[in-house]
Amino acid sequence: MTSVGIIGATGYAGAELVRILTGHPHVNLTVLTSRQYAGTPFSEIYPCMLNVCTLTCEEFSMEETAAKADIFFMALPHQLPMHLAPGLLARGKKVIDLSADFRFSDPARYESCYQEHTAKELLQQSVYGLTEIYREEIRGADIVGNPGCYPTSILLPLIPLLNDGLIHRDTLIADAKSGVSGAGRTPALATHHCEVNESFKAYKVDGHRHNPEIDEVLTLQTGRDVHVVFVPHLVPMTRGMLSTIYAVPQKGISAEDVRQCLQQRYQDSPFVRILPNGRTPDTRHVNRTNFCDIGFHLDQKYNRLVLLSAIDNLVKGAAGQAVQNMNIMTGYAETAGLDAVPFPL
Ligand SMILES: NC(=O)c1ccc[n+]([C@@H]2O[C@H](COP(=O)([O-])OP(=O)(O)OC[C@H]3O[C@@H](n4cnc5c(N)ncnc54)[C@H](OP(=O)(O)O)[C@@H]3O)[C@@H](O)[C@H]2O)c1
Repeated sequence: MTSVGIIGATGYAGAELVRILTGHPHVNLTVLTSRQYAGTPFSEIYPCMLNVCTLTCEEFSMEETAAKADIFFMALPHQLPMHLAPGLLARGKKVIDLSADFRFSDPARYESCYQEHTAKELLQQSVYGLTEIYREEIRGADIVGNPGCYPTSILLPLIPLLNDGLIHRDTLIADAKSGVSGAGRTPALATHHCEVNESFKAYKVDGHRHNPEIDEVLTLQTGRDVHVVFVPHLVPMTRGMLSTIYAVPQKGISAEDVRQCLQQRYQDSPFVRILPNGRTPDTRHVNRTNFCDIGFHLDQKYNRLVLLSAIDNLVKGAAGQAVQNMNIMTGYAETAGLDAVPFPL
């Protein structure tokens, strides 16, 4: 058994971690932290957890909290984890951070869209936690920067096709839609029920922070500069993310080439499902699971490839992928704690 703590357990990503880890066969959840709810039983904040999780939230303290677990998940807003990770690592703990603080290799790229990085030296040590692509590096990592939800849904379909030279790298467009839980639990006018219900809009068209993350990974993967035109949208549903990606295929590429490339790349990846011909991904069918469903349509007449991917933003887009990474770091089966049967409705 591995003892595990969650720092920032009461937000949506943290609560999803509690849910998954409570049912994990090899995990003993030992500490949950929160500022606002220190002293409150977790099941009072999330009543569904009554008799399921008996822990009470505590204020974070480096000495006391670190002593209670071997692995820590941080589900805090960006800028906070960079101050905590060095202390946890110095105490021999492993860290999986769900914020953007340890996702970037290049500090300048991080600083161009977030803020000054105070633990730059760790960026060379941290591994980008897109499990299916960086599995071997994650195995030996002490610190993992878990990917953003939009990047997960966009990078998984694109990387194999770019690596195998099936699509052009300079004409990529990603049109992505997220459920409102993607914005976290902290109330804000933009995500107020009356502002989002029965409505559908694009946001941050002039520059979302996940764009540099997507570009950095694709640039590192291909060894050439890559920029994706990325437009995020807010959908009036609680969870789920669907990305539609438009690419120009290289000359002579067939639908069978696309299928073979994706299937080959993900044949040993239990959470990536390449859908049969004619089927398109649906957020309903990945809801509360760690699956990423990928479908595609090749329009040979007009030479366009349309890729579609669906994930649950809180599971494969956050907590589920973080647990998948923990499984790899600890040598457990990749699917441990994540093998819940999907909901048909
Ligand atoms: N939501 C998603 O779909 C998603 C997907 C991928 C990645 N992520 C990342 O996961 C992290 C957590 O996201 P979330 O959606 O769970 O956010 P959230 O619902 O707003 O939760 C934030 C958590 O951080 C704690 N916290 C501690 N210090 C804080 C501070 N100074 N300001 C605000 N909160 C503070 C909060 O509890 P207390 O205030 O009680 O301490 C709470 O537990 C973020 O870095 C986010 O980018 C989220």
